[in-house]
Amino acid sequence: MVNGTRCVALFLLVGVAARLVFAVNDDLLPNGDFEQAPDRSKLNGTRVMDPHAIPHWEISGFVEFIESGQQLEDMILPVPKGERAVRLGNDATIKQKLSVTRHAYYSISFGAARTCAQAEKLILSSPPDSGILPIQTVYTSSGWDTYSWAFKAKNTSVWFSIHNPGHEDDPACGPIIDHIAIKALPPPHHTKDSMLRNGNFEDGPYIFPNTPYGVLVPPVLEDAHSPLPGWMIMADTKVVKYVDAKHHAVPKGNHAVELVAGLECAMLQEVHTVPGRSYRLSFSVGDGATGCDGRLVVDAYAGREIVKVPYESRGTGGHKRAVLEFVAVANVTRVVFQSNNHHEARRHAVRPCHR
Ligand SMILES: *[C@@H]1O[C@H](CO)[C@@H](O)[C@H](O)[C@H]1NC(C)=O
Ligand SMILES: *[C@@H]1O[C@H](CO)[C@@H](O)[C@H](O)[C@H]1NC(C)=O
Ligand SMILES: *[C@@H]1O[C@H](CO)[C@@H](O)[C@H](O)[C@H]1NC(C)=O
Repeated sequence: MVNGTRCVALFLLVGVAARLVFAVNDDLLPNGDFEQAPDRSKLNGTRVMDPHAIPHWEISGFVEFIESGQQLEDMILPVPKGERAVRLGNDATIKQKLSVTRHAYYSISFGAARTCAQAEKLILSSPPDSGILPIQTVYTSSGWDTYSWAFKAKNTSVWFSIHNPGHEDDPACGPIIDHIAIKALPPPHHTKDSMLRNGNFEDGPYIFPNTPYGVLVPPVLEDAHSPLPGWMIMADTKVVKYVDAKHHAVPKGNHAVELVAGLECAMLQEVHTVPGRSYRLSFSVGDGATGCDGRLVVDAYAGREIVKVPYESRGTGGHKRAVLEFVAVANVTRVVFQSNNHHEARRHAVRPCHR
């Protein structure tokens, strides 16, 4: 919603070729919450037996249709009251054809809960883009985390799929998926007051309005499209969390990033610099008023410099400004943020020093 103006500009740039296309709105995919159930005759217990049984979706492999309170092998699956979801077991895939704007960027947000598999992961794709999403760590007490992923549409009509590549002894083991939403993203771009792209984090994946937990951004490498435009997430299995001002204290604007995974995760961006020239990286460190108190430290690196920014959190929200001045040693400088604890860095701006 914050990106409304920019999204419109993006569609205008795409121009005549895209004019007749009805592009998806920023919201749930058709039957993205699985509230439209398959016909009972196409289920064996919870297992979906027909590839076209779930309205708007195509499935393959061991897919189950789960309603809240259903119990399987002594385990109550955590589907919230009155809701329905799918569980992706061995080699399961759900896919849907999306009407999109060619060459536009999209982020997908969806809820996932682990069940019984050891190292649960999902493969998201919209060919030729694909990404592996580790869902090993549970970040919320409900067991449901919201994840994001991004792709660039190659055509006006593209397939989007979620696949569980697992091969567990119990073929049903695998994550439960619900609430799949899409949002158009502007391409990474510069604003005139900063050399960083999306330094204020105002562009990012869809956050469900009723979730207080934000949305997790998994590892994103250089060659992939990021749900947090401009930013890479370097990690093995860990994530950063994208949060909104509606549910968190945010220094300025509507969004911020919580560095929830300590030194196992770094958030970074490459900036074009002129070797020998001085730059100033400024940013805010604070807490999102999520009740965590204690001493937080954010490390920021650029060029050959590092700054460690301590922040005393009382868990009630607040922030302070920090600056890292550095001299570029190469044409491209990596700006990196990392934390040792639970904290938040936000509004980065790299400017040449006018001194
Ligand atoms: C339904 O599943 C049960 C248990 O896996 C199996 O024994 C049965 O043959 C299945 N029924 C049909 C109609 O596929
Ligand atoms: C885009 O999709 C249309 C219809 O499915 C197809 O005819 C066309 O070849 C596709 N274009 C590309 C570049 O893949
Ligand atoms: C910077 O780029 C220029 C032109 O592309 C190249 O000649 C030069 O070697 C590069 N310098 C460094 C430090 O990478």
